[in-house]
Amino acid sequence: MIFKHAPIRTLILLLAMLAACGTPATPAPPFEPTLARPTRVPIQPTADSRVAMRTPQTAPTRVAVEPTRTPTRARPSPTPTITLIPPTNTPIPPTETPTPSATPQPDPARGAVLFANGFPGRPEVPTCASCHYVEPVAVNDLVGPVMYGIADRAARRDPNEVSAVAYLRNSILMPNKYLVPNEGDKVYAAGNMSLMHQSYAQELTPEEINDLVAYMLTLRAR
Ligand code: HEC
Repeated sequence: MIFKHAPIRTLILLLAMLAACGTPATPAPPFEPTLARPTRVPIQPTADSRVAMRTPQTAPTRVAVEPTRTPTRARPSPTPTITLIPPTNTPIPPTETPTPSATPQPDPARGAVLFANGFPGRPEVPTCASCHYVEPVAVNDLVGPVMYGIADRAARRDPNEVSAVAYLRNSILMPNKYLVPNEGDKVYAAGNMSLMHQSYAQELTPEEINDLVAYMLTLRAR
């Protein structure tokens, strides 16, 4: 009889154990909200994972562009004569880029045309050649000194100028800064005022002034 009741007792004990285990399970919910807070923290890593997702998307597109460039470069390389032509086309964009910021290279040939013929679109601006010979003459019947050999004289004309270029530039922009001494009866200034045209600084472009200076630097005595 005792053995027959024993399984029933163990069943009761087991049920009591399960019931006892069931009751502590109820305080478990208060732990869940505390666990729910850390689940919010993992949301931030998901935001990082979005960023991580963007970078792989852009990266493959860049990698895809580079392979397309490499074959185009590889094509002209087999023929050496054709390879020299693309390099000449490539330097042109770099020269176009500095153009807005800096003036183009001074050109003595352009300067010679400006000196002799005047300034495009500005007929009222007097030409340099109207007052200056560039070749030696027996009689200087023009207002300004003869420019023949000015490239040799320019550097030592004005002791306050550092270079021939600076002297020639300022001769155009500030004619009264240095006055060429009178040559015999030839008078180049009235008091402290040069007889040279006075407003080239306002009338000429920086490019034109550079070209004129480059041209005058070629006027050496032969
Ligand atoms: C109206 C006449 C006249 C015109 C136009 C003129 N000049 Fe002159 N220029 C003179 C006279 C006069 C002098 C000498 C007086 C002086 O030092 O400014 C002179 C002097 C110079 C000198 C110094 C020469 C030297 O021997 O040291 C330079 C350089 C010069 N001119 C360049 C130019 C240039 C470039 C132009 C055109 C953009 C020009 N001139 C237009 C009259 C003129």
